[in-house]
Amino acid sequence: MQIQCGIITISDRASRGEYEDLGGPALKQAAAGHGWQVAGEALVPDEKSAIQRAVREQINQGCALVLTTGGTGVALRDVTPEAVLEIADREIPGFGEAMRMRSLAITPNAILSRGLAAVVGRTLVICLPGKPSGAVECLGFVVGAVPHCVKVLQQVPTSC
Ligand code: MTE
Repeated sequence: MQIQCGIITISDRASRGEYEDLGGPALKQAAAGHGWQVAGEALVPDEKSAIQRAVREQINQGCALVLTTGGTGVALRDVTPEAVLEIADREIPGFGEAMRMRSLAITPNAILSRGLAAVVGRTLVICLPGKPSGAVECLGFVVGAVPHCVKVLQQVPTSC
């Protein structure tokens, strides 16, 4: 099953052009490495409405998987988890648990990331940290469950 994937970088400064977006391209390369087709890319500021709009646009474009990078930390402007949970049908807690558990072996600051995964409609949305290496690392810690999760979410229920 070919997975159509969207990537959203969430950063005030990158969206203002104050620095280059490195997280989006790093995730794009990782996604291609996992065999997923990158069907949408966006760069938005740390604003709930902009994040929610970008997620919905990528879902409407047919993305069964959306990866976000940035805004998971504890700064006041970090609102990615709140933005996604507000439009989500349910959270899948194991993703956040695995990302923090494995990342703590790399940096004590991993405990600061509120990264998570949630289901929006039939799409799996995974919220990853902003640091490019951290985003790719965290994706690597959960990637084993992604194909099955996407497949189950996309299944059309059969009537009995
Ligand atoms: N997880 C991994 N695997 N590697 C990292 O380098 N960085 C941490 C954490 N999780 C990191 C990580 C840091 S420094 C922060 S502040 C939080 O993710 C939140 O990052 P964000 O606010 O940019 O999303």
